[in-house]
Amino acid sequence: MIRGVIFDLDGVLVSTDELHYQAWKRLANELGIMDFGRKDNERQRGVSRMASLEIVLEKGTKKYTDEEKRALAEKKNDYYKKSLQSLSPEDVLPGAKEALEMLRERGVLTAVGSASKNAPEILERIELMPLLDKISCGLDITRSKPDPEVFLVAAEKLGLAPEDCLVVEDSAAGIQAARNGGMKTLAVGPLSGQLGGDFEARNLSSVENWDEIL
Ligand code: G6P
Ligand code: MG
Repeated sequence: MIRGVIFDLDGVLVSTDELHYQAWKRLANELGIMDFGRKDNERQRGVSRMASLEIVLEKGTKKYTDEEKRALAEKKNDYYKKSLQSLSPEDVLPGAKEALEMLRERGVLTAVGSASKNAPEILERIELMPLLDKISCGLDITRSKPDPEVFLVAAEKLGLAPEDCLVVEDSAAGIQAARNGGMKTLAVGPLSGQLGGDFEARNLSSVENWDEIL
């Protein structure tokens, strides 16, 4: 029986996946990489900031030192953080708030499990903090998805065994991470049909039967 649901953040609860894409594209163009596109960005979903940078840099020919790479990742994060300033509850994805409310009503615990170090700021801005029992994010972990660490930390904070948790994800790395952690999975988002989740839905408002999942 599912006693807790762990939600990825970007692209699951909030539309910040698009803001990540715009910030990476801006950086890529500045580096002379003009053909960075949405297909490349699909691989950045769920992946850490530094690993996402590598996906940009592999499209170019120039080699960068570790120090230069850190500066480039910081630059992208500055662009991204600027775009977060206008983030509001209107950016919560369809059905996300309703799903959190429904789970609370049923007595199912809720958490966020996100690689992002910006997760606390985002959750404040979109005002979902009161509907979440625990947060596990990029600030809590050292290994990124597909390593299950971020979800195992979330389960532990909830006081639940991994097999009693469902993970909701929009990324291949995230679905794999949940599976590696022994959790059930619900795939959502534009790639939901190709992620191989135990369940799938285009978004949280189109989940047909929560009874079947829980
Ligand atoms: C999420 C996003 C990734 C992002 C990662 C780190 O997993 O899906 O695209 O790279 O978080 O986010 P941060 O906000 O810390 O750069
Ligand atoms: Mg995501």
